[in-house]
Amino acid sequence: MIAKTTIDQVYETARLEEVIGDFVQLKKSGSNFKGLSPFSDERTPSFMVSPVKQIWKDFSSGKGGNVVAFLMEHEHFTYPEAIKYLAKKYNIEVEETERTDEEKQEANERESMYLVSEYAQQHFSEMLWKSELGKAIGLTYFKERGFTDDTIKKFSLGYCLDQWDGFTTAALESGYQLKYLEKTGLTIVKEDSANPQNTKKFDRFKGRVMFPIHSMSGRVLGFGGRILTNDKKAAKYLNSPESDIYHKSKVLYGIYFAKQAIAKENNCYLVEGYTDVIQFYQRGIQNVVSSSGTALTPEQIRLINRLTKNITVLFDGDAAGLRASIRGIDLILEQGMNVKVCTFPEGEDPDSFSKNNELEEVLDYLKSNSKDFIQFKASLLAEEAADDPIKRAETVRDIVNSIAKIPDAIKREIYVQECAQIMNVSEGVLFSTLAQIGKKNQTDASKHVKKEQKAFDVVKNEIKVEKVDLQYELERKIIGILLLYGYETREFEDLILKENEEGELELKSENTELRVYENVYLNLQEDEIEFSNEDFKSIYQTLIEGMNLKDDFKLKSFITELNQRFVPEISSIIMEDEKDVIHNWERKDIYPKKKEDKVVQLVSETILTLRSFLIQKLISSLHIQTENNDENEELVKEIMDYLELKKLLSEKLGRVLSFDF
Ligand code: CTP
Ligand code: MN
Repeated sequence: MIAKTTIDQVYETARLEEVIGDFVQLKKSGSNFKGLSPFSDERTPSFMVSPVKQIWKDFSSGKGGNVVAFLMEHEHFTYPEAIKYLAKKYNIEVEETERTDEEKQEANERESMYLVSEYAQQHFSEMLWKSELGKAIGLTYFKERGFTDDTIKKFSLGYCLDQWDGFTTAALESGYQLKYLEKTGLTIVKEDSANPQNTKKFDRFKGRVMFPIHSMSGRVLGFGGRILTNDKKAAKYLNSPESDIYHKSKVLYGIYFAKQAIAKENNCYLVEGYTDVIQFYQRGIQNVVSSSGTALTPEQIRLINRLTKNITVLFDGDAAGLRASIRGIDLILEQGMNVKVCTFPEGEDPDSFSKNNELEEVLDYLKSNSKDFIQFKASLLAEEAADDPIKRAETVRDIVNSIAKIPDAIKREIYVQECAQIMNVSEGVLFSTLAQIGKKNQTDASKHVKKEQKAFDVVKNEIKVEKVDLQYELERKIIGILLLYGYETREFEDLILKENEEGELELKSENTELRVYENVYLNLQEDEIEFSNEDFKSIYQTLIEGMNLKDDFKLKSFITELNQRFVPEISSIIMEDEKDVIHNWERKDIYPKKKEDKVVQLVSETILTLRSFLIQKLISSLHIQTENNDENEELVKEIMDYLELKKLLSEKLGRVLSFDF
């Protein structure tokens, strides 16, 4: 742990404008500084830094905070990383507390391994660029693959000479200890059978071109080395072994170079290999990482999850292994992320495809071929057995299985609707299947010993399938909307039922400018919807009244005046939702046309989902009544009416959501 004195000193010394100035061009503007937002593409500066208050605010993304928050946002540092970064910048000695001697020893060991790896990277690069054999063999190879000098340097690619111990000898001569060369796997140490007192040392990566693997913050953790000959017996790629600094399940190749683009584009392309990443990057698509040929792990997904909620998985053209890789998709869904899938034409992988096509073409291809996971699973089946009802049932189950992994109840509901449409089955059936899966997984899980975290996560999510109270969540969301955007004015598209000339009912669109709270109020009133949760009900009433009465509604004074009992809940709604509510839209892959429209869509979706939910509830209760009632003609008619209304709502919901397929 970093000592508090160090942290205090860092805060005292660091100048926000200097720290940010390293990343953003700032211009003086009154008592503040102004610049272009580093979190979005903008032409007019909306990024403000106050040297007096030592805080920053980015008006285009809504982000803001102090110096550490900036580094965490921009560089994706953890808190300690940010403090250490600042300490280094301002020459402050970092004092660590509560470290036992053993821990210190471990930290030193790891540090030594990092240093050896760093040296190896430099050595391999030097061999590639400077040695005759490196130039003739390694560099030529990379050039033939179409990599430019800039790209080769950017990714610090290198070459390990085809000698038994060329690298090891150089490292030892430069003062690095054999112990760490061996621990990082760069050197293989073997007993000399002829002379047991001696050992023999070999370079693990002899004769291979080298791809250093970087951590999120840019340290070299390990290497992938590609063979250049067509030796069938030797592995095409050789990777560093697991070590104290290299855990392959926790690393994504390319993450260091991609992290900013991932956050900015709010999407991450996941490819299979080193060269896919590099070629994509060179073509101009920088938000790309690779799991390096291994099955995707939860830790790797978590790395991406820090940067974006959206992953697009890119599969090679050869369909082999496609089914197997699908498990990765469920893992992504489990973490509440959105998955799209894109496959490449037969015989192509992202490497070859981006090498042979212009940026525009690649982007177009990705855009028109990326599928929602439901569509993707459905299309897999379509190929396999279009008219086979059993296969179809299996696929529906398969899709529902995936939907069950999604932690967010509202999202699940939306996906069920989508699945019902695509697979042409009723939502009711899907929901009951979903509930069954929830129960089954719950009992299955309780039978198993919870060996690892993963199992635990599943249980947690599945219980949620059963327990989440959709109505509660929706009501809470409405309160969130009112708190955050209630007083803002927006143009709302209202879909109104009108009779056409043939006397049929049709949805017509009308635009009206309203404050968000007015729209919410009018909508809820239309169906005489009352909140079921008493707290929400009274917060709702107070909010609507407050906004209605005052010409100048202020959230802060509203909260001060509110019954203190509600304050913790309200604060948590605001804190969560400020982050979440709006971003949920991107998570759901619902990309509104205009940025401002997000609020409008959010309002419409939430209210329509709530109305739809309540009507379904009504229908179900009417159904129960019909069972105990013989003269049920009236009831049946009522049910039919409600079903009709529900259909209309779904239609509206469909229009509002406009999934971007
Ligand atoms: N891989 C590996 N060991 C192997 C083969 C593959 O670790 N023996 C990993 C590498 O990270 C590789 C990825 O799996 O990048 C994808 O494998 P593949 O598609 O075979 O390699 P490409 O990246 O296409 O390599 P290249 O284009 O250089 O042949
Ligand atoms: Mn390839």
